[in-house]
Amino acid sequence: MKFKERVFSGMQPTGSLHLGNYLGAMLKWIDLQKTHECIYCVVDLHAITVWQDPAELRQAIRQVTAAYIAAGLDPKKSVLFNQSQVSAHAELAWVFNCVARLGWLNRMTQFKEKAGKDREAASVGLYAYPNLMAADILAYRATHVPVGEDQKQHLELSRDIAQKFNNDFSDAIRSAGYDDGEFFPLPEPVIVGPATRVMSLRDGSRKMSKSEPSDLSRVNLTDDTDLIAKKIRKAKTDPEALPSEIEGLSGRPEAENLVGIYAALSGTAKSDVLSEFGGRQFSEFKPALADLCVERIGPIADETRRLMADPAEIDRVLADGAGRAHNIADPILGEVKDIVGLIRSAS
Ligand code: AMP
Ligand code: TRP
Repeated sequence: MKFKERVFSGMQPTGSLHLGNYLGAMLKWIDLQKTHECIYCVVDLHAITVWQDPAELRQAIRQVTAAYIAAGLDPKKSVLFNQSQVSAHAELAWVFNCVARLGWLNRMTQFKEKAGKDREAASVGLYAYPNLMAADILAYRATHVPVGEDQKQHLELSRDIAQKFNNDFSDAIRSAGYDDGEFFPLPEPVIVGPATRVMSLRDGSRKMSKSEPSDLSRVNLTDDTDLIAKKIRKAKTDPEALPSEIEGLSGRPEAENLVGIYAALSGTAKSDVLSEFGGRQFSEFKPALADLCVERIGPIADETRRLMADPAEIDRVLADGAGRAHNIADPILGEVKDIVGLIRSAS
């Protein structure tokens, strides 16, 4: 079956958003609004797979929502809401808990990283997290999922779940009128551009992340302009000048990272950045990068702060988005229940 193109993505409301989130995900979310029907979700149910302070979680849900709007997400055009307001996510996740296999989840590298050494003490939710992620996407039968590189494995699992559901229930799916037996699409990752994996500013071998202890390792979307400039100035580099060709970046992870950030922020490719800056020292490149970063990130921080001054308005936006999300997801969930053999009331 040819599925209607629909974009879905989600972001956890934990910690503050940083340049990696912005370049790896947000920019693409905003871009795709121009061409696609888009559904964007603040995944609060994913956040509680590790303990969150309740008051901080509530604040973080609003903060992420505000940051997205500040960065250019238009909540009138796209559907923007928090996951827990739309019960289809949790309900479909249960069905998928019964479709996905233990062996599949055992391979998930993010679980291994997040659970750490004491795996027995991790929550069951953290383990089943990828099934909920599949439910997020497939509750809308979304076909395209813009994310950073680190989510690739989870998306492959979503595809496996969609495929297994289609196979396990193929007769019921056909009886429901889907002649080719395909109820769910196999969602495609959209992992594109020069900054799908932004690295720490202090160590080019580590991902930029909100859990990294050193604040100098990342540019937060809440940093003021002086702090942004300082972090770029202090970013780790090597002593060589920038190369003129992409090949010259190999084995130079810090240089490659900064060039990738510059390219993504200026909407060009790494090769364009190198044709401009090839042969020049970091002492010249860093101030240019700092200016660009301040110019692009500074206004987002200001606008986020302005929006956060009116939390009731943010809650209203989320409630409106949740209503629209319900309208899409509820009929799909109803069909899933029929296909699986559950009984629901006619209304
Ligand atoms: P998270 O903060 O883990 O909820 O991630 C939200 C989105 O940002 C996901 O699509 C991630 O793939 C993306 N993301 C997180 N960190 C990075 C990074 N360092 N580089 C690129 N994308 C990232
Ligand atoms: N797991 C994603 C992350 O940690 C967040 C997420 C949850 C997501 N559900 C999703 C991303 C659905 C894309 C689609 O970043």
